[in-house]
Amino acid sequence: FLVDKGNYRHFMAKEIHEQPEVVGRTLAHYVDLANGRVALPEALPFDFATLSRLSITACGTAYYAGLVAKYWFESLARLPVEIDVASETRYREPPLEANGLTLVISQSGETADTLASLRYAKAQGQHTLAVVNVPTSTIAREASAVAPTLAGPEIGVASTKAFSCQLTVLLCLAIAAGRARGTLDASQERRLVDALITVPGLMAEAVKQEGAIEGLAREIAKARDVLYLGRGTAYPMALEGALKLKEISYIHAEGYAAGELKHGPIALIDDAVPVIVIAPHDAIFEKTVSNMQEVAARGGRIVLIGDARGAEAAGLDTLATLMMPDLDPVVAPIVYAVPIQLLAYHAAVVLGKDVDQPRNLAKSVTVE
Ligand code: G6P
Repeated sequence: FLVDKGNYRHFMAKEIHEQPEVVGRTLAHYVDLANGRVALPEALPFDFATLSRLSITACGTAYYAGLVAKYWFESLARLPVEIDVASETRYREPPLEANGLTLVISQSGETADTLASLRYAKAQGQHTLAVVNVPTSTIAREASAVAPTLAGPEIGVASTKAFSCQLTVLLCLAIAAGRARGTLDASQERRLVDALITVPGLMAEAVKQEGAIEGLAREIAKARDVLYLGRGTAYPMALEGALKLKEISYIHAEGYAAGELKHGPIALIDDAVPVIVIAPHDAIFEKTVSNMQEVAARGGRIVLIGDARGAEAAGLDTLATLMMPDLDPVVAPIVYAVPIQLLAYHAAVVLGKDVDQPRNLAKSVTVE
């Protein structure tokens, strides 16, 4: 069916702005509001309680959603997780434990490497679960269970709303796993569900920073290199931020775990390399502040994507602070996806790039 851009200049802008709505729709599918618990739309043909291990595989942005999910499954469900990009998984042919689950994540459900990894896992006798956006896709048909994202058709080559919906579904799955494994009790689950249902509203709040982000994008567009840093779930978000920027603006960008700064990227720091620090005020915030101080001491220009409490606690001069609403850090990746995407989008627009059809990239990579 026909999908148009509405009042937006690009599909990517439309899809970024649609996120409060589609994440809300996805949540409504996975959450039993009346009882404050996660309720998966379909019974799963395996039991999280007895799983030996979770192996996640995907490509591109879907892989980064999986990397965030690794933190969630480990912390909320104490489930051991391994994760790799599908192009490596399929040829590594990793030994997979009996009663393990392979989770594949794909917007299109047609990515060749992800499909090959799924087939490998099935042949090894693993349980398989696919988080997919296209319900009629090959991956959705071949996986033994499907957890759909309800993002609707995504046209922009750079994935945005599919990513935030993937995160939403993955957090619901991690909560369900935590309940099954006895690592979350009913009140902890209710607290998490309460945090989850605030997400669409928080994303709408985050969108209000667009004016500030547009201004910042004019500065970022002048850079040759940009560094993104984060710890915990903000680390995969740093990787995703760098991917988004390079995909559509062609500015070289790297994402790094903030704690690895001193093992290499600190050598790059000067006033020409903006350093974008993704840091909600969470349990490891102070550690990230130390890294920001290291950057500042070398004349680096910091962009903080954080919240008012964090900005005050850090007390650093920044090139800009993109102020995110106060939130439960567990849901931060879903909300912080918005400023990351908007920054890449506006940098590409400033540079006059073809935002929806970046050079050399395809929406769906169905051949190797
Ligand atoms: C391509 C797209 C990315 C996407 C990746 C994985 O590289 O440009 O936006 O993240 O494929 O696609 P999938 O459909 O499997 O999520």
